[in-house]
Amino acid sequence: MKIIDLKNAVNELDRDSINAPFVIPTETVYGLAAPINDDIALRKIFEIKGRPSDNPLIVHVSTIEQLKNLINKGLISDQYQKLIDEYWPGPLTLVFECNENVSDIIRGNSNNNKKSNTVAIRMPTNQYLRDLISKIGIPLAAPSANTSGKPSPTTVQHVIDDFSDKVSVYIDGGPCENGLESTVFGIIDNIPIILRPGPITREELQKTLGVSVQIKNKVSAGEKTICPGQKYKHYSPSVSVYLFKGENWQQNMVDMHLRLNNTTDKNTSIRVGVLASNIADIEFKFYTMFDLGNNIKDCCKNLFSGLRALDNKCDVIFIKSFDLDNEGLAIMDRLEKASTYIIE
Ligand code: TXA
Ligand code: MG
Repeated sequence: MKIIDLKNAVNELDRDSINAPFVIPTETVYGLAAPINDDIALRKIFEIKGRPSDNPLIVHVSTIEQLKNLINKGLISDQYQKLIDEYWPGPLTLVFECNENVSDIIRGNSNNNKKSNTVAIRMPTNQYLRDLISKIGIPLAAPSANTSGKPSPTTVQHVIDDFSDKVSVYIDGGPCENGLESTVFGIIDNIPIILRPGPITREELQKTLGVSVQIKNKVSAGEKTICPGQKYKHYSPSVSVYLFKGENWQQNMVDMHLRLNNTTDKNTSIRVGVLASNIADIEFKFYTMFDLGNNIKDCCKNLFSGLRALDNKCDVIFIKSFDLDNEGLAIMDRLEKASTYIIE
């Protein structure tokens, strides 16, 4: 296993030295990457993650030329152009109609009859990473670098914890700036839709586009799946996660702890980890606390680290819910998917 500092990656790596999936840091979460024309490495990404083959990959580009080369007729609509001007490079993934340069593996078409003709593309913030993509000369497909179903990784150590020697090149860029995966957005049948809430908020997208934006981050029974990732279990630690909504959350946590202790044998006490913001205001002397921070951006940044840290030392994780505006929508999307139980 080799760990390379992001600043040196552009000198140490090139197209020839990359012949298997490798780990990249991005401003959102770490990714497991391969050039989009390397079918063997792309298949390996699915294998290493244990990812269902119908779940398509996000493509990372370093230039608008690379983007045009992958999309239908190379045409960017006025609406998408506005978003690109405002948010790229950055944590906004756009869903385009693609052309034949995007393989079936990336589209999630490899193992079934359904043929998707879209591709999700973004341009990552970090200049060193974009320089590396430009040096390789080919866009990189990269899902989050976690075992499928687990919380996404926001440090290189999180990725090593999941993949260890299954990957031989890890690029370390330090802790991720945003800490939540990119917003996935598409204009589908003329309707602007957020498919995965993220760091670029609904409020921001509505302001830029001047229209109302829908949210569709869950699949309902009988509905067509636009974003296959929504079908699968996500962000889950190995221990049970309880999400507490409503004003009585603090008392409800205490009651739940008592209930859980009563169901186990008398001599053991359930180890509770609590994930919350502003923990100075909370009096839980017997619990392991993980402070998400005092502002919403810090909460995004620390969320997956918190889930992973408490998973390692507790029997259950209790989380206080967030309001649904701005970045709170993305946090609650992850928390509802991570939770085993929601207590209203
Ligand atoms: O921030 C991110 O987006 C990170 C970093 C590494 O860039 N990547 C990431 O990829 O989160 P992944 O594979 O873990 O999540 C991608 C999500 C999945 O839910 C997938 O179903 C959806 O995007 N997706 C990919 N291609 C799509 C497409 N053509 N149409 C709709 N949804 C798509
Ligand atoms: Mg993921």
